[in-house]
Amino acid sequence: MSRVKIKSALGQEPGKEITVKGWVRAFRSNRFIALNDGSTINNIQVVINADQLEESVLKNISIGAALAITGDLVASQGKGQYVEVIAKSIIVLGTADPEEVQKTILQPKRHSLELLREQAHLRFRTNLFGAIFRIRHAMTYAIHNYFNEKGFYNLHTPIITGSDAEGAGEMFRVTNLPLENIPLTEEGKIDVEQDFFGKETNLTVSGQLEAELGAMALGQVYTFGPTFRAENSNTSRHLAEFWMIEPEVAFADLKDDMELSEDFMKYVIQYALDNCKDDLAFLLQRETNEDKQKPQAERNELNLIERLEFVVSNSFERITYTEAIEILQRSKPYKKKKFKFPVEWGVDLASEHERFLVEKHFKKPVIIFDYPKEIKAFYMRNNDDGKTVAAMDVLFPGIGEIIGGSQREERLNVLKEKIADFNIEEEHVWWYLDTRKFGTAPHAGFGLGFERLIMFVTGMSNIKDVIPFPRTPKNAEF
Ligand code: 4AD
Ligand code: MG
Repeated sequence: MSRVKIKSALGQEPGKEITVKGWVRAFRSNRFIALNDGSTINNIQVVINADQLEESVLKNISIGAALAITGDLVASQGKGQYVEVIAKSIIVLGTADPEEVQKTILQPKRHSLELLREQAHLRFRTNLFGAIFRIRHAMTYAIHNYFNEKGFYNLHTPIITGSDAEGAGEMFRVTNLPLENIPLTEEGKIDVEQDFFGKETNLTVSGQLEAELGAMALGQVYTFGPTFRAENSNTSRHLAEFWMIEPEVAFADLKDDMELSEDFMKYVIQYALDNCKDDLAFLLQRETNEDKQKPQAERNELNLIERLEFVVSNSFERITYTEAIEILQRSKPYKKKKFKFPVEWGVDLASEHERFLVEKHFKKPVIIFDYPKEIKAFYMRNNDDGKTVAAMDVLFPGIGEIIGGSQREERLNVLKEKIADFNIEEEHVWWYLDTRKFGTAPHAGFGLGFERLIMFVTGMSNIKDVIPFPRTPKNAEF
């Protein structure tokens, strides 16, 4: 008999014989099995008659084991479920030695998130990580849906590149030169001509520059790919390998860019509210329980669902960088010298400043735009004031920067000056400059950090818990 997914079985009317397959989450009183197959956070209850089972089968029904069960779907006698399965036959597909299980996070009790990370190969089996990764999938789908509906084309930009789009120099080198015997030139430098690509290459820090090339013909494109940054910041919001979504739109200016970012975020968050109800309900319950353990001041003012609904139904605040600095300088924490980092025109905003603006001052998502040109990337369009560029960051409560974007410098002469100011050699970006020679046009785009979005939607506070196998300094296990 073909297998029915548990999600579908739980929604069926009683009366039929069905086969379900899954892993044992709990087994009590030698009678009730809670079986889960990943199709939903909910388990199906299977009732067995131990007397009628072969001893060899019964002894292998234990937490973690994989079973195939055929039986009748009946209305449940017990509380908490509508239907259950009265087992007629059970096949043990894979055993799980209870003694071994004891040593792992499969053992059903509360485990710390740190321990779950150490056993990331098993953490999918927990309710929490099942919920997170089903939501992660739903968000991927929602993002592709959004752009497809809006007439964007998905573009696969290269993972290996020769450029440093962000100019921050935080790149992972890609080479197949023998590390124990690196060929050198006469001047004693690495002889990159002997390297696989005949030049210096690295893993991409952004697909934007290539996406711009696509947008200059296809009109509207977006990338959704892995992104690599060798920044040595072991924070709860940074990964060395993360996923970024980068739309790029021809004939758009900064205002269009901000509007797109707000509409996009609202769409994908609404998608989660509409399509991830069971998983969100679980995450809400978890957060509520955790909050109860915390002192009043550290509890969430709005709960998870309220936070998602709040973003969908309120407009994002828009302020210039200059206004942001003024608000910060008038703030209590500034006057009481509570900020660790300086607040003055020209410096980059630190996370503490962003959080103050979003969580304390405006209490809603904030878009800051028109940043000083010195602290932003070379490709951003110079504003007429001579000091700022048409850049924008979208800041979210609890997350900080979730999106960074800008209108791009489309004027060839200005771009050339900027490239010189940033010490970039024209011969490295000749192809990028070419688009400004042949039918240049105003255009804009942004990058959404996918894991930061998943943090917001799930309420998880560490980025390592929203990607299956996090890559961080000194950590590339699994
Ligand atoms: O602000 P960033 O550096 O912008 C760019 O890369 C532009 N090329 C985007 C564009 O205009 N097309 O990065 C964009 C977003 C950030 O706002 C943040 O959400 C995320 O990417 N991000 C990271 N996420 C996890 N770990 C890291 N180390 C991240 N660095 C950036
Ligand atoms: Mg940024």
